[in-house]
Amino acid sequence: MDSLDRFRLFLEKNPELSFVTEDGGKIIGTVLGSFDGRRGYLQKLVVDKNYRGRGIGKNLIDLAVKKLQDQGALYIPISCDAKNTAFYQKVGFKKTDQIPMSISK
Ligand SMILES: CC(C)(COP(=O)(O)OP(=O)(O)OC[C@H]1O[C@@H](n2cnc3c(N)ncnc32)[C@H](O)[C@@H]1OP(=O)(O)O)[C@@H](O)C(=O)NCCC(=O)NCCS
Repeated sequence: MDSLDRFRLFLEKNPELSFVTEDGGKIIGTVLGSFDGRRGYLQKLVVDKNYRGRGIGKNLIDLAVKKLQDQGALYIPISCDAKNTAFYQKVGFKKTDQIPMSISK
């Protein structure tokens, strides 16, 4: 899990690109957005289990994608588990021939 300091740093570096959905003051959905000047990125899209299937995930993606595009992001790549491809296609993402790879410390 991210430390609070890391999380703060992320938000400071990427102001106004992350969103939450609340119900009575309780956070029930999140998405973190970031922009490197060329591409936009989305992370930590999560909707509380008890609130899924009500359009909250789509709304969070719509908000973050619009904000990233308004800031100039022309391309927003994501990689996701196979079980989430139907969701991402529903909210506008298209499969590509790119193969996701990563390096971790
Ligand atoms: C993926 C997730 C964010 C979706 O959130 P949600 O609020 O339930 O999604 P929505 O209600 O906005 O769904 C939007 C559309 O996608 C569809 N959809 C959502 N999850 C789906 C799934 N697992 N399989 C197929 N379709 C799905 C919905 O039916 C809806 O379609 P519609 O517009 O035709 O009604 C949520 O399931 C979640 O938090 N999962 C655990 C965390 C996770 O895996 N995050 C993604 C990291 S890559």
